[in-house]
Amino acid sequence: MSTSPSHLLSLRDLDRPAWNALLEQAERLSGPAGRQPLLAGKRFGSVFFNPSLRTRTAFDIAALDLGAHAVTLNVGGGLWSLEYRDGVVMDGAHAEHVKEGFAVLARMVDALGLRAFAGMLDARADARDEVLHAAARASSVPVLSLESAMDHPHQGLADALTVRRRVGERSKVVVTWAPHIKPLPLAVPHAGTLAFAHEGHDVVVAHPAGFELDEGVLAAARGLAAAAGGSLAVTHDRAAALEGARVVYAKSWGARAHYGDPAAGAAAVQAHPDWTVDGAAMARTDGGIFMHCLPVRRGVVVADEVLDSAASVVIDQAAARLDVQKATLCRAMGVTA
Ligand code: CP
Repeated sequence: MSTSPSHLLSLRDLDRPAWNALLEQAERLSGPAGRQPLLAGKRFGSVFFNPSLRTRTAFDIAALDLGAHAVTLNVGGGLWSLEYRDGVVMDGAHAEHVKEGFAVLARMVDALGLRAFAGMLDARADARDEVLHAAARASSVPVLSLESAMDHPHQGLADALTVRRRVGERSKVVVTWAPHIKPLPLAVPHAGTLAFAHEGHDVVVAHPAGFELDEGVLAAARGLAAAAGGSLAVTHDRAAALEGARVVYAKSWGARAHYGDPAAGAAAVQAHPDWTVDGAAMARTDGGIFMHCLPVRRGVVVADEVLDSAASVVIDQAAARLDVQKATLCRAMGVTA
């Protein structure tokens, strides 16, 4: 019998029963069941290498609502600077290795969370998600990804739950690239693509040439979509993709060809201003809803006329984070409700 903890590191790791169980539990916990001491006496620790509004708050409140205690640690904000690479001589800025840091935290809490964004210097290194996996190896309790280089499982779960609530049937879902002022990681478009594939939607990923998502993630999403009765397509033709869409999921991400060159990366994401999601783009859809993980730059990623319209569900989408994070906390701590 395996004694390894039930980590949640990527949506790729969830089989259909586990995926559906999490979303069904999230729905149950969105009501009064989500404010009872199911996790009384339990402890959740999280380590953030990067900023957060939604993820951090949702875990703190989820723990409070379920009777658990949450401890949130910020790298650069009172926490020792952490090394994660194997075999390095630690004579630089990092004072502690995640091998010790996460092993110690795991002796004090019942589950751990980690946020560590992509370095965006080396796509192959990002694809290995080294910080997350180093932490998971060091931890004797379940580790939840709070967004890594490659995936953002809690965002994807909340996105899927939002579409279940707002649309509720197999639909055309467009994950569309959008402009930005600087190149951003691929975790969110990966998570959205995987989540909508899990749900059996007809997923279309639209982006300009050069902004390809990770091949391994796309292959996994194709398999998940096929198994769930849906499909996955990739196109450079956003106008055609939007025809008949019920969901428009916007996100900017960087071109991997420019990793390590921020100036070239910024120029690339600023080179397609016609990809901003505006009213004309939404008019191509079949009464589609607008989604974004937030934070979002108004007038760059999306026009005010869309974000402020009835089609925008971004606030409900963010609020759903609380429901799914209650569900993943319960799963990590072995509690079903
Ligand atoms: N969408 C999301 O993860 O938000 P935060 O970065 O604020 O946590």
